[in-house]
Amino acid sequence: MAVNEQNISDIQHAADIVEIISSYIPLTSHGKNYFGVCPFHDDHSPSMSVSKEKQIYKCFSCGAGGNVFNFVENYENVNFIEAVKIIADKVGINFTTNTKIKKNKNENLYQIMDLAKKFYQNNLNSSEAKNAKTYLKSRSIDENIIKDFELGLALKDKQALSDLLIKKKFTIKDLNELSLINVSGENIYDCFVNRIIFPIHDLEGRVVGFSGRIYEDSDQAKYFNSRESKIFKKGNILFNYHRARDSIKLEKSVILVEGNMDAIRLYENGIKNVVALMGTALTKEQIDIIKKLRVSVILMLDNDTAGYTATYNNGLAFEKAGINCNVVRISDTKDVDEYIIKNGVEALKNNLTNPISFLDFKLNYLKQNKNLNNLEDIISYVKEVLANLKDNDNELVREITLKKISKEYDIDIDILKNSLNITKNSQKEVTNVKKSDKVLECYEKAVQDILYFMMNDSKYIDLYLEDIGYFKEKKYRDIANLIIYYNESFGSINLANFLTYVKINNELADDIESIINNSFIKDLTLDNFKEYLATLKKWNRKEQLQKLNEKLKNENDINEKMAIIKEITKLKREV
Ligand code: CTP
Ligand code: MN
Repeated sequence: MAVNEQNISDIQHAADIVEIISSYIPLTSHGKNYFGVCPFHDDHSPSMSVSKEKQIYKCFSCGAGGNVFNFVENYENVNFIEAVKIIADKVGINFTTNTKIKKNKNENLYQIMDLAKKFYQNNLNSSEAKNAKTYLKSRSIDENIIKDFELGLALKDKQALSDLLIKKKFTIKDLNELSLINVSGENIYDCFVNRIIFPIHDLEGRVVGFSGRIYEDSDQAKYFNSRESKIFKKGNILFNYHRARDSIKLEKSVILVEGNMDAIRLYENGIKNVVALMGTALTKEQIDIIKKLRVSVILMLDNDTAGYTATYNNGLAFEKAGINCNVVRISDTKDVDEYIIKNGVEALKNNLTNPISFLDFKLNYLKQNKNLNNLEDIISYVKEVLANLKDNDNELVREITLKKISKEYDIDIDILKNSLNITKNSQKEVTNVKKSDKVLECYEKAVQDILYFMMNDSKYIDLYLEDIGYFKEKKYRDIANLIIYYNESFGSINLANFLTYVKINNELADDIESIINNSFIKDLTLDNFKEYLATLKKWNRKEQLQKLNEKLKNENDINEKMAIIKEITKLKREV
């Protein structure tokens, strides 16, 4: 990203972090700092502190922290450049984005997709669109929907789009990458032929793919979709997200449906906080997108077995991610689109106002194929519920579930709790693996915390250089070197400015931000720093000892053996 650094730095200095954050959440001053209820996790007490002096914020409950740009980025869920724009507006400084911003390296691809979209849109107004129009009408897809969702038509002519794009001098490679054309020997054909086109947008609203639906009798698959490309990653996209985002925030909830048509139907009926999964399984990235919105989810998937199972699996994933999730199961029709057409939107709204909690859904789901008048089935059901709970770290969910089960089947709650612990213990091996992870975590944490100190004050950079001067992991070494470089170039370092520098110049930004968010150090004192250094050195020594012992085992020469033992003794004395 090549932007006007001075310009951004001016904006940062004109923006007082206390004032900017106050415009989002109330802050109260207390001593040197200001405090507010952290908007980045579910909180009710003022655990976020904002430092006027250092121009940074930090939540000591969830760890969220950074400078004024980071706050706006995360609060508004926008990228860095957009955050700078928002703050520039607030402080009344011109942000000259387009002057020096390097063209996005995929700009070309977006341009092609936009052109293709417009081409398809035009086709729908042509004389060849008669049957397509009839089909759309038969599905109650009116002109408003066509316009809002930028629907189009791929013609029967197998070279209509490719001819146009090649004439425009776009490269075969790019067109192929975007699955707009197929190359077959000397010939080039369109990928989308004789289908209604639904553009797919990324989170920022750029067209990155198409979904093409048949509209005449055909033995081909109902939908043909763009393959993944440099700009289209299915798992990073939720259909309709860019249109729905503001409503989702406003309603504090997002409705998740299976098909694009379901989302379109809801949206056009005024229920705008809806996104679709495009029929695929929920990915970790999609969960992260939803988590960032800090709203609850209403799962409203298709009325079939697949939709039922997917509701269970997706609900579990949300539960695990700490996202509040409710479920609506429609009956009567196959999906939400058909439901609204058959029963009207008011009927659907009734369903939406009475969702069941995912917890209740789950307890019912596990009852499937069981006869709960039968003692054996009850036992197996309770066992399944307990097995399900053992993965759940949420104490409240565990407690409420146990209470429910205890009441429903008249089982003493202490027995259930006991059984839950036993099921937990039977997982001992897994826990042991986790433990060695923890050890690693502890080492890594020390490294991260040392870096955090260094980003805050050059004093700690000097100490690092004197005392260790080297991290064995490349990622952390690179970050340390960047900190050192920054400090030398600018003569000093502070977190607020360093973060902006990193954002503009360096691909390590994500790693550095995660270090900030992982850190819970309250006092940046020399004593504290030395403690982290000591921890790290202890780890390094331990590792060296292990290596030496290994070497000793394999060494046959007595003199060499003695030398190794000497080294080991020396190291041990230091521990
Ligand atoms: N899908 C797909 N390819 C298929 C079938 C489905 O990509 N052959 C995706 C589409 O994104 C579709 C979603 O899965 O929107 C849900 O599938 P389905 O419920 O079968 O489609 P509907 O959305 O109901 O589509 P329509 O109403 O047009 O039949
Ligand atoms: Mn449908």
